[in-house]
Amino acid sequence: MAILDIVTYPDPRLKNPTARVNEINDEIRQIVADMADTMYEAPGVGLAAIQAGIDKSIIIFDPEADKEKRNFSTLINPKITFQEGTMTSENEGCLSVPDFRSNVKRYARVTAEGLDIDGNPLQIHGEDLLSIILQHEIDHLNGILFIDRISALKRQIYRKKRLKALKDE
Ligand code: NI
Repeated sequence: MAILDIVTYPDPRLKNPTARVNEINDEIRQIVADMADTMYEAPGVGLAAIQAGIDKSIIIFDPEADKEKRNFSTLINPKITFQEGTMTSENEGCLSVPDFRSNVKRYARVTAEGLDIDGNPLQIHGEDLLSIILQHEIDHLNGILFIDRISALKRQIYRKKRLKALKDE
């Protein structure tokens, strides 16, 4: 069991597109296992590897976030291949964006495609919470945080508060 340190805003690593995974080996399997430990401990419903400072295109997610069941999915090199409809996520949050939540405009339904932990193609169709999680986590792989999808004014207010909190630490 390894709990990884979470990289938080405004760490510049969260702004960069992540590197593709070329081979799923023991290193990748260990990263995913550690990511799962970290996600359930937080607890969170999704985690991207870059949130632990690991520059790889890997996400995991579990909408139920039940530590006892540990029923999470892994998507490696995922992409959104289909999207339709609109919805507003209520009180969306992120482990890398401490002390802030906001409603965010999202697609209502998406399909994400990538590889599973065994290297097999995996296609996941999500609506409601799963749709939001897929969009949120895949955004991380493109260097986008949910606060990049709210108004500039709200983002500036958060940024000010966050910088002050970091200074006071
Ligand atoms: Ni996040």
